[in-house]
Amino acid sequence: RPFYTEAPTSRPRKMALSAEAERIAAEFEFNDSNVNRAVLEFVAEMNEGLEKNATYMSQIPTYVTGVPNGTEKGLYLAVDLGGTNFRVCSINLHGDTTFSITQSKVAIPRELMVANTAQELFSFLAKQIELFLKEHHNDHFEASIKRRQTISSPEGYRDENFFRLGFTFSFPVHQVGINKGNLIRWTKGFGIADAVGQDVCGMLQKEIDNLKLPVKVAALVNDTVGTLMARSYTSPGKTSTLLGAIFGTGTNGAYVEKLSKITKDMEGEFDSSTGLMVVNTEWGSFDNGLKVLPNTKYDEILDKDSINPGIQMFEKRVSGMFLGEILRTVLVEMLKNSSISLFRDDTSANNDYHSTTEIKRDAAIYKQWGVDSSILSVAEADNSSGLKTLRQFIEKDLGVLAASLEDAQAVKTIAHAIAVRAARLAGVALAGVVLQTGRLDKPGSEPGPKSAAAIAQDVKSGKLAEAASATANKLADTAGLAVNEDEIVDIGVDGSLVEFYPGFEDYMR
Ligand code: GLC
Repeated sequence: RPFYTEAPTSRPRKMALSAEAERIAAEFEFNDSNVNRAVLEFVAEMNEGLEKNATYMSQIPTYVTGVPNGTEKGLYLAVDLGGTNFRVCSINLHGDTTFSITQSKVAIPRELMVANTAQELFSFLAKQIELFLKEHHNDHFEASIKRRQTISSPEGYRDENFFRLGFTFSFPVHQVGINKGNLIRWTKGFGIADAVGQDVCGMLQKEIDNLKLPVKVAALVNDTVGTLMARSYTSPGKTSTLLGAIFGTGTNGAYVEKLSKITKDMEGEFDSSTGLMVVNTEWGSFDNGLKVLPNTKYDEILDKDSINPGIQMFEKRVSGMFLGEILRTVLVEMLKNSSISLFRDDTSANNDYHSTTEIKRDAAIYKQWGVDSSILSVAEADNSSGLKTLRQFIEKDLGVLAASLEDAQAVKTIAHAIAVRAARLAGVALAGVVLQTGRLDKPGSEPGPKSAAAIAQDVKSGKLAEAASATANKLADTAGLAVNEDEIVDIGVDGSLVEFYPGFEDYMR
């Protein structure tokens, strides 16, 4: 049974569609003054989070007091839980900024993300570690089996055959030591009530011990901390890396802060000799109070229907888990508007597709989370005149029987606006961290570029060499060439959005 009945289509209607798309796209504009205001608020919330608990941005001390410099060596295990996939890998650090890695990846079954008990999830994780070890490090595995026959307590077989494992767990955790931390809350669609408040390292170690694996959970890190460490190990630059940021299923950043600025209580022990500590900002919850964040009617609908209304408000406008859902919400609202002809226009001369009006009620476009954010990347990448790829994607992934060129253009316009807003908001976070850490402050009184008048004066007084050099500097500066190695702010980024959305970095810059 068709959900929407056939409406007569005509050229004026098609124009109405593109005009309506433009109008909606404009609602997603986040202009320069909005950006600047948001950056100031971001810095303020960063400082609030360093002073006390229970603020929007948690600013979690990580007990990591330095970053690597590329000389570290050894074979380590690492696992990563935090989005769609669970990864297990072994990494051999060669000590010269290079490394080799062996890894496996498995999609986390949806039912485990919302399992009744955390044990169900963590035993699944331990099982994956066992499979990985059997496949790639059978020697360690065999050695541990031999020991199992002679030593019964799990502590007993912690010897040189043990792997030290880094646990990347990408949710807000109240960390109390390098390998101990209690889950504050789930994000990104996970929800297992009995895990909240529990030590996630302890839960993983218990399941590892149950399988008698030669593995010790040695460090707990957020994915942003992992990104910061990895960039820092491989970074060729002279200055050490400032920030690790994720723009993927979720978004977050961890940066190197001065210990003296973290004035709230820290219960765990750590070595304070570096005077630094990596702080996990949990910026996904920046401005949950919506003081400076944009808030369209579509953002409101998404939030209201989410499992955590009022929480992760920045993340809900920026990260991959939500962008497809924002677009879907816009399209559903547009479909309710009978005066525009979205997905029911069959009059276009350019349209080599057969068009019909039928969208079934159970089509992906009508399902919450039914539309993957990859549609935004496809829309951005398809610059062909017929938008054939995008039209096929809309038909296949949204469950629309036929998408006309005009439909695809409307989707492209709106998807672009949603992604550009996300990138500009991402820029707010990066700018906030750069300002907070004083990386733009120039110590001392370094001379600024000479003014044109000063150069003219040099010329007049015959100081031609000075004048020429000042002019060259000015030109290089304007062309963006005058980069001083010491002034580069080195940042590590990762995540599907920054990796696959064409031009995300440019829009962010
Ligand atoms: C969510 C999590 C955060 C993580 C980010 C990126 O925001 O709360 O811990 O770093 O997603 O994966």
